[in-house]
Amino acid sequence: MNHLDALPANFRWGAATAAYQIEGAASTDGRAPSIWDTFSHTPGKVAGGDTGDVACDHYHRWPQDLDLAASLGLDAYRFSIAWPRVVPLADGKVNAAGLDFYDRLVDGMLERGLTPFPTLYHWDLPQAQQDRGGWPERATAERFAEYAAVVAERLGDRVRDWCTLNEPLCSSWIGHLEGTMAPGVTDLTAAVRTSYHLHLGHGLAVQALRAAVPGARIGIVNNLSTIEPASRSDADLAAALRADGHINRWWLDPVLGRGYPQDMLDLYGVELPVRDGDLELISAPLDWIGLNYYFRQIVADDPTGPAPHFRQVPGPNPERTAMDWEVHAPGIEELLLRLTEEYGVREIYVTENGSAYRDTVTADGRVDDPERTAYLESHLAACARAVAKGAPLAGYFAWSLLDNFEWAYGYDKRFGLIHVDYDTQVRTLKSSGERYAQLIAAHRARA
Ligand code: FCB
Repeated sequence: MNHLDALPANFRWGAATAAYQIEGAASTDGRAPSIWDTFSHTPGKVAGGDTGDVACDHYHRWPQDLDLAASLGLDAYRFSIAWPRVVPLADGKVNAAGLDFYDRLVDGMLERGLTPFPTLYHWDLPQAQQDRGGWPERATAERFAEYAAVVAERLGDRVRDWCTLNEPLCSSWIGHLEGTMAPGVTDLTAAVRTSYHLHLGHGLAVQALRAAVPGARIGIVNNLSTIEPASRSDADLAAALRADGHINRWWLDPVLGRGYPQDMLDLYGVELPVRDGDLELISAPLDWIGLNYYFRQIVADDPTGPAPHFRQVPGPNPERTAMDWEVHAPGIEELLLRLTEEYGVREIYVTENGSAYRDTVTADGRVDDPERTAYLESHLAACARAVAKGAPLAGYFAWSLLDNFEWAYGYDKRFGLIHVDYDTQVRTLKSSGERYAQLIAAHRARA
């Protein structure tokens, strides 16, 4: 039996990208800056001084990119819609040209047999909203829902599958606590308020989507990690519990109807700005939950470090990606089973999973990336094991379709199944992409 046979016959095979990471055309057709334009143009924030100004020029080259996606045999394409193209400024006015771009893109997907999976927020808050206080303020959640309604009205006749937020953990903890992503704030109160307003924005957007798109299938995407204590000491065991709260439970519990975890509320000591009805909105029923998985975290107590007082220690597996992330495929299986068994989730997508390696283009124009291929295979096998044990996994989106702007790491870290030469914008399918296409075809043939 092939190791992927356990995946259901109607499994959706996909690949994912995000607007700021691929589109470029940063000031074209009425797009205004987002917090990532500001951040990447601030000296010292992004490796190599890289910005998303041009990126993969996907804004102009999207037909070719969708052709490539279709040539892999994908069923679905996860992309994100740039709020700063659609409602660029604080006046709330819709930018027709920005919306037209996504209209063309969705039609282009449908023409090629690709099911569109748009994400409404993949970190690119309009700078104009940041200038009004950004996510620490409730108004930003309300503006987000207005923008969601605009997009839903325009695309809802063709798009059924919607994702509200990508990885609110990163916007909150990395953007507002650690400060190494936009907007680069380091303040626990701002970070906790951000997480709350992102959740509220999610809930309000769900309401807007349900109103505009009958039959919409809506989910939220979280990046989760399995957590292991560095030792059996009481201090490290307690640190692992805090890390689990910070990285996993804070993001799952409120959305899945359990409220915010009390241990973490006590630890952060920041009062949530809850108003009547908010928690019901935040936990409105969803159709699926998205899991982004990259690595596990082994944590030790760190009493003098910033809240929540744990630090990550290197994992024992010597295999590391170019991000220095430990390769640990069993983690994806564990998380799929946890969502199934502990949280009772009834439909899951792996919305991102992938790896960065140092790729080189050979003289005959090939990119051979055996490590990325091995990563892909081992993680898909782990997904299939989870399915065999009962996880309701409906699809898998490889991160990423294309090499792209890897946030604070710039263009140096390549996650694509397709190589991008940033000088010429030439795309080259990597051997991992070829392998992915073979696996998809083989699964389809047996289904
Ligand atoms: C995730 C992000 C995605 C990409 C991958 C490597 O956290 O959602 O945009 O950067 O990591």
